[in-house]
Amino acid sequence: MNLNEVQKASQEQFAKQSHRYGRGHILENVDDVSEALRSIQLPTPAKVLDVATGGGHTGLYLASSGHQVTLADIAQPMLDRAKQTALERGLTVETRQHPAEDFPYGDATFDLVTCRVAAHHFSSPNDFVRETARVLKSQGWFLLIDGSVEDNQPEAEEWLHQVEKFRDPSHHRFLTPGQWTALCQKHGLSPFKAVLTPFKQPDLNWYFETAATSPENRAEVLKLIRNAPDSARKLYNLGEETGKIVWWWQRLTLLAKKV
Ligand SMILES: C[S@@+](CC[C@H](N)C(=O)[O-])C[C@H]1O[C@@H](n2cnc3c(N)ncnc32)[C@H](O)[C@@H]1O
Repeated sequence: MNLNEVQKASQEQFAKQSHRYGRGHILENVDDVSEALRSIQLPTPAKVLDVATGGGHTGLYLASSGHQVTLADIAQPMLDRAKQTALERGLTVETRQHPAEDFPYGDATFDLVTCRVAAHHFSSPNDFVRETARVLKSQGWFLLIDGSVEDNQPEAEEWLHQVEKFRDPSHHRFLTPGQWTALCQKHGLSPFKAVLTPFKQPDLNWYFETAATSPENRAEVLKLIRNAPDSARKLYNLGEETGKIVWWWQRLTLLAKKV
């Protein structure tokens, strides 16, 4: 695989941290996925591609619903663990290692492409959406769930970007609903819904541990929190609860259809 620097950083980070994303991780709860898909019709079985599958929670949920699922990720240890979980749950899935910006599939292969809590790592959201549109069949669906920031909040967006970058240098950028919607339209995907839902960061120390943040970078994040602008304090409801630093992100759920 020919990877750029951003992709290499993600691959390294998630290969090292793959043990943290399986059973017991907050992403194991896939209510957001089932809720989002309730409003659309899929063939049974549908051919599904789950991009940046991580612990496989989204893809395995879809496999357990009777669909034919390919789990894809840039980090092989993630795929190995997801495959193991599939075996333990008696599910059959295919796994493929490749970046989200360049797919090894033919045009019009899938009925549904999913990508949950990962796209903020991608070096080129544009290439990712272009590839998604290419491999979707006509009338196929794209489900994106990812951290996001409201449109028109540049100061708070920049603050969160700095925090995330120090916490996990493989973080690339959160995009706003308007930016994702524009990318979909550019590549022939018609936005069906784009909804922001508040989502809690429950404990900064837990969040550091998830990414194995270095002590120097933890200090930088704490400095950013002490000096947070009012716009960020207010937008993210930044605060302390029983000694834990918490805030609320926005999680974007976007559904778009190939026209
Ligand atoms: C938080 S995990 C994903 C969680 C998962 N989708 C779920 O629903 O539980 C993020 C994943 O994105 C993958 N990733 C990051 N950058 C990538 C890229 N450019 N291409 C493909 N996968 C990538 C990482 O290897 C990691 O497994």
